[in-house]
Amino acid sequence: MRGRIPDGFIDDLLTRIDIVEVVERRVPLKKAGREWTACCPFHDERTPSFYVSPQKQFYHCFGCGAHGSAIKFLMDYERLEFPDAVEELAQSAGLSVPHEGVDNRPREDRSGLYQLLESATTWYQKQFHASAQAQAYARERGLAEQTLEAFRIGWAPAEWDGLIRHVGHTPEKLKVLEQAGMVSTGERGKRYDRFRGRLMFPIQDRRGRVIAFGGRAMGEDTPKYLNSPETPLFHKGRELFALWQCKQVSGALHRLMVVEGYMDAIALHQAGLPIAVATLGTATTPEHTERLFRTAADVVFCFDGDRAGRDAAWKALDATLPRLRDGRQAFFLFLPEGEDPDTIVQSEGKAGFEARLKGATPLSEYFFDTLSHDIDLTSLDGRARLAERARPLVARLPDGAFRDLMAQELKNRTGTDTRFENAPAPAASRPLQQRAVRRTLVRSAIALLLARPELAGELEPPYAFAELDKPGVTLLLELIEVARARPGITTGALLEHFTERPEAEALQKLAVAEPVGDDAMQRSEFLGALDQMQRQVDLQRIAALQVRQVDGTLDAEGKAQLRELLSAKSRGTPAT
Ligand code: GTP
Ligand code: MN
Repeated sequence: MRGRIPDGFIDDLLTRIDIVEVVERRVPLKKAGREWTACCPFHDERTPSFYVSPQKQFYHCFGCGAHGSAIKFLMDYERLEFPDAVEELAQSAGLSVPHEGVDNRPREDRSGLYQLLESATTWYQKQFHASAQAQAYARERGLAEQTLEAFRIGWAPAEWDGLIRHVGHTPEKLKVLEQAGMVSTGERGKRYDRFRGRLMFPIQDRRGRVIAFGGRAMGEDTPKYLNSPETPLFHKGRELFALWQCKQVSGALHRLMVVEGYMDAIALHQAGLPIAVATLGTATTPEHTERLFRTAADVVFCFDGDRAGRDAAWKALDATLPRLRDGRQAFFLFLPEGEDPDTIVQSEGKAGFEARLKGATPLSEYFFDTLSHDIDLTSLDGRARLAERARPLVARLPDGAFRDLMAQELKNRTGTDTRFENAPAPAASRPLQQRAVRRTLVRSAIALLLARPELAGELEPPYAFAELDKPGVTLLLELIEVARARPGITTGALLEHFTERPEAEALQKLAVAEPVGDDAMQRSEFLGALDQMQRQVDLQRIAALQVRQVDGTLDAEGKAQLRELLSAKSRGTPAT
């Protein structure tokens, strides 16, 4: 694993690049006052409600609520994961990305491995076009010319050293071949091609680079499929075959389908369903599910209806539960025994397969049906057993409406009520009065700081208002710290520090609103809000001291403090 990318680097990066340029390269923008606008690339619309702010260095869509920094834009638009979006931006800015921790040494150069695998891919493709046997097999499997191209399918000739001769025999070349998992070593240390006489499926990473291969034997040879071993580039529990091809199809991806075989994924793409990905002969891992849900909100797991398929489905469910945040949905589709997606889509066509997809079982239904398949729910005992089985699993769901629904469903089915710990209620459900107080001071201070992060530079710790016992004060302090530590930070970069936090959504909303007035007015409003907060601290202190005075527990020092606070209050200035 690579180490974390330091926050400081993210800040630097975001100050070096301009979000307007990043967006403009992908979505043509029109000037609109101080901002730039376009029809939102994240939802369908006729009139533009997508805005990019060069001052704040972030974008926001008033239609669908999409928003964020340049990094977030790349993640959403190009469907990259965070480190890749950072990598891409860094490259365009001529920076190289540092990583914290273990791997802090200059990162091993892997470009040689990528180059080798790329060259092997084109060589296999060439061999395919020269092999009557390979072409006959592809025809027999129904692979169209376009599909062969899109998946870069090739042929490894049935020779011991075809690839080795293509690449070259030098010790350096052999070392790279070995690191890339392309050669095996015989008893006397002799190297030979790992893949021989196989139809070759390149496995591409999230950036489209070839990182491994799967090779299908002809006829009944064993093993039927041979994959690359684990290499520095390839970890099979993380990769999904054909995900790259899914992402290449334009428009938003709402749904992905996970199948078991290379040929299944390919056949579905060819049939006009470019939403299929395949695991690589492994069970679905939590890393898989995270990548799936980052790419599409709905994920359908498709398995054979046999025992092995059912086991695989339950493993997939297990890897999915912790990822089911609100808005994400998982479904299960079981096929008749003896069939796989490849055979089904060939016989029933796109429409037939889509009809099956429509009838896929929602996770909740599959979940309860599977857990209760051997239980008699008419008996008290049976219902208790179901509750016992389901509870620890439901507890693994993230907080949210979906978990509440599942808990409710469990209650309906078993009659037992199960309480699950919830995170603190979101601001919206707190009493109105509390919210009103927050809006007047802490919230407006936060909003102003988000709009004008440089205001933090005018403050010096310790901050008297920090003691104020009100929601949001800690967050304000954190914002001030970040903004002070990084002079010149923009709104977008500041928000980027809080993306993983529950407060992110609220901060975003505050950042969208343009504060009234010119710079000077905003400055005095910000400092004024902090002053007032400090006065509230004084009032809180006065109240606390007065309680002790009434109790008779106030000592001399306390009395002096109280006097000073009261006289400061009557002067109308905060005490310090
Ligand atoms: P076809 O028979 O070519 O249609 O392939 P399939 O995809 O239908 O094969 P199957 O359902 O038997 O296997 C599904 C997936 O499991 C394959 O795509 C491979 O990833 C993996 N797999 C199957 N057989 C083997 C094997 O012998 N060795 C390894 N390592 N993986 C296999
Ligand atoms: Mn098959």
